[in-house]
Formats: sequence, structure tokens, C-alpha cells
Amino acid sequence: MNRSSHMMIRAALAVFACLMGSFASADQSISKAAFGKTTEGTPVALYTLVNANGMKATITNYGAILVSLETPDRDGKMADVTLGYETVKEYIAETPYFGAIVGRYGNRIAKGKFSLDGKQYTLATNNDENHLHGGVKGFDKVVWQAKAILADKGPGLVLNYVSPDGEEGYPGNLSVTITYLLTDDNELRIHYEATTDKPTVCNITHHSYFNLAGQGSRDILGHELMIAAKRFTPVDKTLIPTGELRPVKGTPMDFTKPTAIGDRVNAKDEQIEFGGGYDHNWVLDNADGSMAVAARVYEPTSGRVMEVLTVEPGLQFYCGNFLDGTLTGKGGKVYKHRYGFCLETQHFPDSPNHPDFPTTTLRPGEKYCTTTVYKFSTR
Ligand code: GLA
Repeated sequence: MNRSSHMMIRAALAVFACLMGSFASADQSISKAAFGKTTEGTPVALYTLVNANGMKATITNYGAILVSLETPDRDGKMADVTLGYETVKEYIAETPYFGAIVGRYGNRIAKGKFSLDGKQYTLATNNDENHLHGGVKGFDKVVWQAKAILADKGPGLVLNYVSPDGEEGYPGNLSVTITYLLTDDNELRIHYEATTDKPTVCNITHHSYFNLAGQGSRDILGHELMIAAKRFTPVDKTLIPTGELRPVKGTPMDFTKPTAIGDRVNAKDEQIEFGGGYDHNWVLDNADGSMAVAARVYEPTSGRVMEVLTVEPGLQFYCGNFLDGTLTGKGGKVYKHRYGFCLETQHFPDSPNHPDFPTTTLRPGEKYCTTTVYKFSTR
């Protein structure tokens, strides 16, 4: 069959499936179900995306949260590799950003203050004296408009949110579009776009907690991690960068060669002590804005491999230091200390207060446009 007739059949299938309330093509599909209501009574949905290999992602338009992600191990056995909850109620009650889209500014801004074009702005502070992950009610706690799509690469979900001028202290109406795509190459692709009507700052990220042995099964200390970065941004004790770009060589932050997360996580080292383990931003070697591998994680018991590719200059590696067994997630699993890790692609923390860091300023007429890929395979 030639490409155009193949595409016509796909399109016809999509129209038919659309009439049936879901999209499906070949083995790819996307379907929608109710996922409960917010405290204000707004109904939210859960979308299930399946690729041609049977890999499955569920995403809700509350917080644009990736609720689950099922990937095969080396024997083809599927397991959910992200932490999260089964109901929107639990996400509303308490979440350390499980699976969420985080913004308008992912990571910390010192004392919630910055100036832009000579004007001082004061943001909500929600991490002691600092601003973290967009503030008290960030992008992880709002309802997004969602549209299911069947793209050439696979099923996807397009999410829109307009963050009003002044929200959490940020200037400008920021119009945001996030596209999740689940491709037949077993990639979860996240594409971010935003425009503003006043100069503002923008640094959006994704905050999944991964455990490639299966969510809730055990800690993540045996995962072997490589980060393509020769430097990191050391922090003070409130986790704000000092401004230095410090070589990782000879420190517990050196992941240039694959190393088990647990090997040095309790090292006697000031940076490790400040973070309570790893909770730092790495300065990715690839700095030209092209797509490159930022990190690779291998879990030896399951054989699962996850690669993170991004065009962003930084990567926050957080190893679940604040998980302490008080949260119970999907399948009744208790999330204990270091049961999940996050690899948050981003610009560096507190960039608005560090003119020598890559800029996070977004101006009217410009487009914030960035892509990150979480790619799964086995070994
Ligand atoms: C980020 C931060 C951490 C922590 C988690 C959420 O990764 O860097 O310090 O706040 O989010 O618990």
C-alpha cells in the first residue's frame, strides 16, 4: 500500500473512531473516561494513550498529570513505571508534583523575587522563603483544556492553559500548550509552547517520579544513571544556586559514567547534605539548543532503560529524598524514602536572578518552544 492510501485509511479510521468517542488507528488508540471533579466541582478526565507496541500512558487534564506509564521489561512483561494516584481527589489532597507539568517557573526563585526591565516582582513563596514550581497554585493544580489527537508519530494529548496576568505574582497573560505524544518508538514526547502579552519569565518542566523496577516495588538506589554533564550548579542550604558552574569530576555528582544512584547518595559532602541526597541541577554538555541525550537510566533487575533527550540546557536530578512512607499511591503502594527519581529538564534554577545563566525571559512576540523525550527500551 502506498503512503497516501495508508494515510487515507488512517484518517477514515480516525473519523470513524471520533464519531464513536475515541480515536484508534491500527493498534494505536486514545480514549477518554471521567476522572472525578475538582474541589470547585469541575469535572476532569483521564485519557488513555496506547501505541502500536502496547505501551500505555494515562494523562489527566488536572495538572496535565501523567498518571501512569506502562512499559515492557526485558521479557516483555508490562509494569507501571511512574508514581501517582488513582483518583483526582488524592492529587488534590497532597502530592509532591507526581507526574505533573510544573510552571510557570519550574524549580526555585530565591525569596520569590526578581526584577525584569527595572521592575521588581514578588512571587508567592511556598518553599520556606523561596518560590518553588510555580507557587501555591502552579500549573500542576489547574484544569487544562484537553484535545485528543492521532498524530503521525502516535496518539497524543494537547493541553492548553492561559495563566492570567499576576497569577502567583508573575507578569503577563501566558498562553501555554503542552503536547504529550506516545510514539511507536516507545517514546513519551513532551512539547512545550508558550506566548505572553508582557515580558515575563518561563521555565516549564515535567515532574514524573520514575521507578523502572515498577512503581512502589522498592527504592531506586540500584538504578544506574548517566548524566551527560561535566558541571553542575552548586546550591546554598535553601537549594538556591550560588552562581558557580562547578566541575563534577572527583565529586559524588559525577555521573558522566553510568553509576548506581545509591553508591554515593549518602556521601559526606556538603552538596549532598544540603539536598538530603541528590536534588541538584546539572549543566548539560550539549548547550547549542539541539536535541541530545541528557541522561540514561538502567534498572538491572527488569532490564528497563530510559533515555532522556532534550533541547534544554539543564537537568534537575532529584532522587525522592522527601518521600518518607506517608503517601500511599496506585495499587495501595506505600512510597517510601527514595522510591522514585525525577529527571526534570529545564533552564537553571533561579535564572531570573543570575544574568549569566541562559535566559528564561519571554517577551511579547517571542515563542517559548521546547521538547523533551523519555525513551524506553530494554537490555
Ligand atoms: C523538585 C525539587 C525538590 C522537591 C521536589 C518535590 O525536584 O528540587 O527539592 O521540592 O521537586 O518534592
